[in-house]
Formats: sequence, structure tokens, C-alpha cells
Amino acid sequence: MSQVAATSGYNVTLVEVNSGLLENAQKNIKKSLERVAKKQFKDNDAGQKKFVDEVSQRIIGSVDVKSTIKSTDLVIEAIIENIKIKHELFSSIDSLAPAHTIFASNTSSLSIAEIASVTQRKDRFGGLHFFNPVPVMKLLEIIRTADTSEQTYNAMKSFGESIGKACITCKDTPGFVVNRLLVPYMAEAVRLLERGDASARDIDTAMKLGAGYPMGPLELADYVGLDTTHHILKGWNEKFPDEPLFKVNPMLEKLVSEGKTKMSKEGSLSVKN
Ligand code: CAA
Repeated sequence: MSQVAATSGYNVTLVEVNSGLLENAQKNIKKSLERVAKKQFKDNDAGQKKFVDEVSQRIIGSVDVKSTIKSTDLVIEAIIENIKIKHELFSSIDSLAPAHTIFASNTSSLSIAEIASVTQRKDRFGGLHFFNPVPVMKLLEIIRTADTSEQTYNAMKSFGESIGKACITCKDTPGFVVNRLLVPYMAEAVRLLERGDASARDIDTAMKLGAGYPMGPLELADYVGLDTTHHILKGWNEKFPDEPLFKVNPMLEKLVSEGKTKMSKEGSLSVKN
């Protein structure tokens, strides 16, 4: 997100919780920028370097959110998916941020209104949901709660368009549009595997070659993170226990508890006859 905003000319402050994570994030941004530069400035080493340097200079790193918040127009939070920690963050910065500053969350699965509830700026609060890899994926979901003002919504949309994203609007519902469809789809692929109906490789191949998806559902679950996928489902299941689409799979639970991260490459997960 920082990279994409800086590439579009915005001055960005990238805030991490500690210097190790900040360094890591900056390294990843540099790698990704070099990838973009190679395409944009093919056979032009000087052009590539200039692009990477210029964009990198627009991203200032910090580990102190409170000191950076005073000069921001837009805050995009992308921290851990934990409502308590998000509340702590937003309540700590609400009174320090300028009155006009818009707060947005990049949450994948939590309610924007619930996150905003601890602030005094519910009218200047919304969702800006990006997709990985952010420099490549064209979509931005803009989420408005019942309290998000028209002015805030328009500003979020203008921002999204200014960074080259195709913006869609959604109400503050679980998973918004993409994850509401994608997470149950990935979970159903795990159920297919759980029943032994097809191998992991064949499920992925089927959806790539039969439905034109760039990644199969199990590959995608690995890419999103098995722990993240499981965490989203578990949270929704606790909140909406009667919704069958949000049921947690025992196989997913087992793999996550064993620390496994690659379901699509799991050799033991093959067809049972
Ligand atoms: N930074 C910059 N550029 C990148 C990049 C990155 N991190 N990752 C990939 N790219 C670029 C590559 O340079 C390449 O560019 P060219 O085609 O112009 O050469 C292009 O993207 C394709 O990359 P690759 O050739 O390496 O690999 P690929 O063709 O297999 O594509 C992919 C990789 C873009 C990830 C593709 O597999 C894909 O679209 N997968 C689906 C991703 C998806 O569904 N994302 C949403 C996940 S859900 C989510 O994010 C929300 C949530 O809340 C959980």
C-alpha cells in the first residue's frame, strides 16, 4: 500500500511496531519496486535506479505512530486482525490526528463500524481493502458504514482512483465482496480434499484450467496464509454460528495447529478411493 501510494506521488509514512519489521517491510518494498522498474524501464539501468530511488524517498519509516499522526490526511491501518489491538491503536491516535484526517482500515474480515466505534470520527472512518500482491491487483474495495459521510466516501474513492485502482463500493458486511466469496470457496476446496474427492494438485488444476483462475483455491489459501484463512473463518463462525458457509474445516484447523503452511504441496493429501 505504501509502495503503491508513493509510486503515485504521495508522501507516505510507513509505521511498523519495531525496527526489525520496519526494515523487513522496506526491503520487500525495494524488491517489489525493482520488479516494477524492470518492466517499466526495460534495458535502462539508470532509469530503473532513478525510479526506485525516487519512490523510496517518498516513504519515510517510523516505529512511533503517535509522532507521525499529526501531519497526516489519511491513515490506512493494516495491523493484526484483532479487534482489541485495533481499538487500542485507533483510540490512541484519535485525539492526536488533525480533525480533517480520515481513518481507514484494511481489515479483511472485521466490521469497520466496530473498529471505528472507539473513535470520535465515525463520519471520517471507512474501509480501504487492498489485495495481494497490492502493486499487481487492480481492485480496491471501499467500505462505507452507516456513519461514513459522503465527503469521506468521495475522498476515499478519489484516493483509490488516484493510485490507479478500480474501486468498488460495499456495505460493512462480513468479508465485503471478495472475501465473502473467496473464503467460503477456499473452505469448500478444503472440504473436497478432506473427503478425499480429489487430490490437492487436481483441485487447483481444475480451477485454473476449468474456471480461468490464476491460482487454484488451495494454492490461494497457501498464498493468503492458512493461518489467516482459518482465523477469518473462525472469527465469522463465532459471530455467525448458523451460517453454514462459515464453518471451520477440521483439516484446516489441524494443519494450522501443526504449523503447516503449504496445503497445495501437502504430499499426504491425495485422493482416497
Ligand atoms: N510486486 C510487484 N510486481 C509483482 C509482484 C510484487 N509483489 N508480484 C508479482 N508481480 C508482477 C510480476 O512482475 C509479473 O509482471 P509481468 O507479468 O508484467 O512480468 C506479474 O506480476 C505476474 O507475476 P509472475 O509472473 O511472477 O507470476 P504469476 O503470473 O504466477 O502471477 C500473481 C502471480 C499475480 C500472484 C497471480 O498468481 C495472481 O493473480 N494470483 C491470485 C492472487 C489473488 O487472488 N489475490 C487476492 C488474495 S485475497 C487478498 O489479498 C485479500 C485478503 O484480505 C485475504
